[in-house]
Order: sequence, then structure tokens, then C-alpha cells
Amino acid sequence: MAADAHGRHYFVREIEKNDGCKLKVKQCYLGDVGCVVWDAAIVLAKYLETKHFYDPSSGVNLWAGRRVLELGAGTGAVGLMAATLGAEVTVTDLEELQTLLRMNIQDNQALINCGSVTAKVLKWGEDLSEFIPPMHYVLMADCIYYEQSIIPLVESLKLLCGPDTCIICCYEQRTEGINPQVERQFFELLQQNFSWEEIPSDKQDSEFSSPDIHILHIRRKA
Ligand SMILES: C[S@@+](CC[C@H](N)C(=O)[O-])C[C@H]1O[C@@H](n2cnc3c(N)ncnc32)[C@H](O)[C@@H]1O
Repeated sequence: MAADAHGRHYFVREIEKNDGCKLKVKQCYLGDVGCVVWDAAIVLAKYLETKHFYDPSSGVNLWAGRRVLELGAGTGAVGLMAATLGAEVTVTDLEELQTLLRMNIQDNQALINCGSVTAKVLKWGEDLSEFIPPMHYVLMADCIYYEQSIIPLVESLKLLCGPDTCIICCYEQRTEGINPQVERQFFELLQQNFSWEEIPSDKQDSEFSSPDIHILHIRRKA
């Protein structure tokens, strides 16, 4: 168990890439929901490596040079994966996650050759002028869970997306408590300005997928 100069303790989640290299993502023992890697983040990170996006044997790399922004990045696992595949990534979250994000960027820098990754504060619903022009991709893993944040989250998606932006949203469908209602509210709001398609399991990573974890490609309606 590692500790930093302030006595904060971390434990590491390894995510093995298809090339055999391992992302080493620090998580905190103490903290809010963002300080651990959620299953949806693993499923999304591994989806980014599927052949549709990245197939070195046939020269396919849809990430190379792409502007990518991750919302509610938490530990930054998903954005880090995109950066190792060649994307120009900004991982964003609340102020209190910035130290963890920066630490994980530093610890995984050796795996990032052609791409780049930077951490920034982005609170949903607040000023997004520094993230304009629109991204090629917006990534979000397990961000549909908190009633009060649904309206600002969808507002931010509207501001971040141009006609060519693809949001890749991965979420775990939860049946307990208020979760189904929060999910319903998100999709009701979303459908006013966006349409989406669900990615079937045979197009996801063959090992890291699950029936209750969904991946959507979401685009602005014309
Ligand atoms: C369930 S965690 C998911 C973290 C990470 N994406 C993962 O899947 O491992 C939700 C994340 O959303 C962030 N979040 C919640 N409300 C937010 C807001 N209003 N603005 C920005 N980020 C927010 C939290 O700080 C947290 O990192």
C-alpha cells in the first residue's frame, strides 16, 4: 500500500492493454465516488482498444490526433487509455480529483508516446469556454448516477458537442433505489437534442463486457 507525503493511502488497479503493457491507476482508500475505478470505466477503456478504433495490424487508428475530453474522469483510467492509443486527451473532474488525476498521468506517462493527456477542472453546467472548439470524442463512464447533476450534465454535453462530435457513454444499469429514475430522467432530457445507438456486446471487448453495462454512441441531432 503506497502513501503520499500527506499520508494519503493508495492502491493500484492494473488495466492490461492488448499490447501487453499495463496502465497502473492509483485509487484512494478514502474519498468520494471518483477516487476508485468503476467497472464501467474498465469496460469503456477496453472498448477504446477494439479493432473498430485501433488495429495496428491493418493500420487503423481512429484515436491518432483526435481531440478527446473525458467528463467525470475520476482516476482518469479511460482518458489515459485513449492517450496511450494516440489521442490528445483532456481528463476533467471536480477540483478535489485533480491531485489523483495528475498523479495517474505522471505514473503512466511512459505508455503515452504519440498522444497526450492533461487534467483540468470541469464542473458540469459551468463555464466551458476553454473547451471550445468541439471535441472529436467526449468520453463518460458511470456519470449517470446523481439526481442533482443530470440537468447540468446534459447542458455541458450540449455545449461540448458539435455536429461531428461522438459521445461515448458507458454506464452501469442499476435497479435499486433512485437509480432507475435518474437514468430515465437523463435519457428523457438527452433525447431533446441527441440521438444514440447502443453498441452490441459482440462489438465490445470480448472479456471486459457485462449485460448490465451499456455503451452508447451519442450524437447531436441534425
Ligand atoms: C461514479 S464516478 C465515475 C468515475 C470514473 N468515470 C469511473 O468510471 O471510474 C462519477 C464521477 O463524476 C464526477 N462528478 C460528479 N458530479 C460532477 C459534476 N457536477 N461535475 C463534474 N464531475 C462530476 C465525480 O467526481 C466522479 O469522479
